[in-house]
Amino acid sequence: MAEQFDMVIIGGGPGGYNAAIRASQLGLKAACVEMRDNKRFGGTCLNVGCIPSKALLHASELYEAAHKDFESLGIGFTSLKLQLDKMLAQKEAAVKGLTDGIDYLFKKNKITSLYGRGEISAPGLVTVHGLDGTKIDLACKNIIIATGSDVMPLPGVEIDETRIISSTGALALSSVPKHMVVIGGGVIGLELGSVWRRLGAKVTVVEYLDRILPPMDGEVSKQFQRILKKQGMVFKTSTKVTGVEKLKSKLKVSVEPAKGGDSETFDADVVLVAIGRRPFTAGLGLEAVGVKTDKRGVIETQNFATNVPGIWAIGDCIEGPMLAHKAEEDAVACVELIAGKPGHVNYDLVPNVVYTYPEVSSVGKTEEELKQAGIAYKSGKFPFAANSRAKTNHETDGFIKVLADAETDRILGVHMVGVGVSEMIAEAVAVMEFGGASEDIARTCHAHPTRSEALRQAAMGVEGWTMQM
Ligand code: FAD
Ligand code: NAI
Repeated sequence: MAEQFDMVIIGGGPGGYNAAIRASQLGLKAACVEMRDNKRFGGTCLNVGCIPSKALLHASELYEAAHKDFESLGIGFTSLKLQLDKMLAQKEAAVKGLTDGIDYLFKKNKITSLYGRGEISAPGLVTVHGLDGTKIDLACKNIIIATGSDVMPLPGVEIDETRIISSTGALALSSVPKHMVVIGGGVIGLELGSVWRRLGAKVTVVEYLDRILPPMDGEVSKQFQRILKKQGMVFKTSTKVTGVEKLKSKLKVSVEPAKGGDSETFDADVVLVAIGRRPFTAGLGLEAVGVKTDKRGVIETQNFATNVPGIWAIGDCIEGPMLAHKAEEDAVACVELIAGKPGHVNYDLVPNVVYTYPEVSSVGKTEEELKQAGIAYKSGKFPFAANSRAKTNHETDGFIKVLADAETDRILGVHMVGVGVSEMIAEAVAVMEFGGASEDIARTCHAHPTRSEALRQAAMGVEGWTMQM
């Protein structure tokens, strides 16, 4: 007889584990199934995504600062050496600490965790194909699919995770390549490209479109590209990779202009394929139970409900930004809806962050989106070069831009490039969540000297009264 649950969640990433915890808080008996063979919950984010990448970004940033900036701060030392094995080990320790934390939360919330591939045998029935070859049936009132996403492959460029790598391989290289070619100037390419550049690699980013971070505000992506170029990253925009030939001692990368034209080749030791991610739903049994997906494999949902009653989906495998915090929002709203509560996600206010040096963050509409929608807006901008804290710390690259409705002053978008802006964007999100105006930020007291004063000064700029520039 199959054990009976209120909810079985397939996938233990930020979508799945948060759904399980919220379900338990609401008095629902929940099980969460995860098929990673390391038997660790946390999904892409904790195992091979957000957390290990941030661990390497943090360590490599300090390494580069020690190398390039400490001397000017009066910190002298006789020798500096990179110990890559130790750097990778502290990354693994961060991953272990946080994935152990999920085990603790599952125990605390009395969530049943199962290791194996979850397959929907029928609505209300999940079969877990255990890593040890066993099979267990779980009966439930509701199934939540939280199976996440996987690397988007590039035809003709086969990933082997040693020389031609995805983000997963880029988190575990055992030596610093001489030349890393990154295909795709998006978030992964720029974050992991930054890690290896700081550790000593030459990094060339090949981007199909005419600018990096294409969904970001145009001014942000332009300035940011200039900053990264100054740091030594090489960009080939409006360019496509047509093939990578594997020779014994090197890779030959062929590129040509995106619109067609003469091709050129260059050598690389490592090629990182980072052209996006796609929903992961293989082996779930979606076709058999009739759950609809679109052409791209995205599970079709309405308020997280699929077309099959009792089967829900959240996170990277449904529409929307592929971000851990979005998956978490989906999880809470979906479980609350199942529990008869009014679950809701405001997708207009999901912040975006790129954890490079400096960082990039944004929320709401870009100038391009406002223009295209014909919305009249006012803009206020403030450079970190005029912010006292940034100047004191010699961290003056970047700016903050606040976009507000021309008539009502309601904030429509906030865009930031600068050190520490991953934390600062939360203020903008909170004010926008309350429907706030630029004046609300402009007339809020901000501590001095902080970088957050730059947000206040940018907000003041919307009404033309920036004072410190
Ligand atoms: P996932 O985290 O992908 O979890 C899904 C889980 O389901 C996986 O563990 C998978 O093994 C499991 N699974 C799949 N099929 C089955 C099955 N049939 N049975 C059992 N288990 C199954 N986002 C951010 O917000 N901030 C960041 O800084 C950030 N950095 C990233 C860096 C990298 C290198 C990458 C690759 C991604 C990053 N992301 C980041 C994106 C983030 O990781 C994802 O948006 C997030 O993990 C999505 O959560 P999810 O729960 O939907 O799916
Ligand atoms: P991405 O969508 O961010 O960027 C992919 C880039 O590749 C785009 O600029 C695109 O124009 C370009 N591209 C597509 N096809 C190409 C081709 N054939 N040749 C050259 N360029 C091509 O995808 P990425 O960087 O792979 O990341 C996947 C997702 O993971 C992100 O969209 C994001 O949701 C998530 N992520 C989030 C992070 C964060 O929040 N800091 C960090 C890393 C990943």
